Amino acid sequence: SLLLFTVVFIITADYIKNRRPLGFPPGPPALPLVGNIFTLDHSRSHETLTQLAARYGDVYSLRMGQEWMVVLNRFEVLKEALITQGDILTDRPKLPLQDAVSHGLGVIFSSGNIWKEQRRFALSTLRYFGFGKKSLEPVILDEFTHCAKALRGYKGKPFNPHLIVNNAVSNIICFLVFGHRFEYGDERFIKLMKMFDKAIQIEASIWATLYNSFTVLMRRLPGPHQTLKQIWSDVKDFIRAELKEHKKSWDPSERRDYIDCYLNEIQTNKGQDDNTFDEENLVLCVLDLFAAGTETTSTTLRWAFLYMAKYPEIQEKVQAEIDSVIGQSRQPSMEDRSNLPFTDAVIHELQRIGNIVPLSLPHATNRDVQLGGYTVPKGVMIIPNLTSVLFDKNEWETPHTFNPGHFLNEEGKFVKRAAFIPFSAGKRLCLGENLARMELFLFFTSFMQNFIISMPDGMKPVMDYRFGITLAPKQYEICMTPRQEML
Ligand code: HEM
Repeated sequence: SLLLFTVVFIITADYIKNRRPLGFPPGPPALPLVGNIFTLDHSRSHETLTQLAARYGDVYSLRMGQEWMVVLNRFEVLKEALITQGDILTDRPKLPLQDAVSHGLGVIFSSGNIWKEQRRFALSTLRYFGFGKKSLEPVILDEFTHCAKALRGYKGKPFNPHLIVNNAVSNIICFLVFGHRFEYGDERFIKLMKMFDKAIQIEASIWATLYNSFTVLMRRLPGPHQTLKQIWSDVKDFIRAELKEHKKSWDPSERRDYIDCYLNEIQTNKGQDDNTFDEENLVLCVLDLFAAGTETTSTTLRWAFLYMAKYPEIQEKVQAEIDSVIGQSRQPSMEDRSNLPFTDAVIHELQRIGNIVPLSLPHATNRDVQLGGYTVPKGVMIIPNLTSVLFDKNEWETPHTFNPGHFLNEEGKFVKRAAFIPFSAGKRLCLGENLARMELFLFFTSFMQNFIISMPDGMKPVMDYRFGITLAPKQYEICMTPRQEML
């Protein structure tokens, strides 16, 4: 009877403590202690969350363990919350697993003044290196030349493009933050890429949810969450080693890269009130740029190869457009984009259907707010469900089919679509959007200009995904046959 009493006591206490607050968005019934953790299919959470909207409305709530979270669905709702109401959702929730790595520093998981200052600085530095006098365009094109040389080595035979594409894309952000690229095959770098790959899966797994809900217990238990902490600690060591090298040769009058600029900023801000610039924050910001800037663009390109292999007629149409506008005697440039409407539409459609960051990143209310007619108190986790927008049948003619026509008008001209929000929206919009768009355009057109992409004999492309912070294609082999020799 003591056991029965304890169970009844726990359930009653849990019910009283964790009741859905008055005026809070509705949602599925929650179990004692675990709440709705098992309502989600954690191998495809974005799909479950989108389905729940059909039942509970565009603004609904779930309880993950002891924490409430509100899910926002569909374009109008996201627009109202992230753009029209502007600054109500600029914070991130405090998640113990992420906090163990970031300690509230950096750009991605920080909030308040730290976030504001670090984001402002990162944006202005990226603009300086990426789009001002020191444009990244030649850096990206040069990287493609390295990449194409390595790919030609496969002579059109099947190979897995994962590592090489990760390496090529990551080299752009490496050039920006560290001032140098890494040779393909560099063992330290390959190890790092493999760790990233593992980390993005664990970050979105049930282990992360359990850790964030039952931290005291989980901290003591073995499991992938422990591996995750180790991975980020190794990546930080890698960055600290780069920082050490920079400090040895640092000349304040020269801005070689982001780390140099940051070291200058530390000097300038020393002793000032509310200073947020120090070496710990430097390491975290570099970690954020490095992590966010590698896997995302690379994943989109790996989807691109699969879709081009699946739809050879679309691939041929892209190649014909590139041949007539750019030809084969020079590399593409950003100025070509407006003359390549079909290619541009294909890239947009790849991003839409690829849906690589399906649930954006979690936000948190920074005061008591009204969302969709409900009252949501300060500090509640908010999930902007990008999937619900990118696959909304009211926004897209054929939401589940690859269709570049979504971005073309009747005359074949490129048209912008408001519901195209793979980078999210509002004040926390992806900080690397411009860089990512430039990378995607230059890499994709270069691949199409130089290679014919096809599946190995007898194989069909598998369009199924692997769920993580990013939705990535499953590992695959593909053939890239050089075009120039064929023309
Ligand atoms: C944040 C998407 C590439 C850096 C985000 C967010 C999304 C996203 C959905 C969350 C926004 C939110 O909180 O609502 C993408 C996609 C990419 C891409 C689809 C490529 C196809 C990049 C690149 C960089 C980058 C190349 C490198 C600079 C960041 C950073 C944040 C972020 C630092 C955090 C911003 C903040 O919290 O203020 N990205 N991203 N991203 N992204 Fe990207």
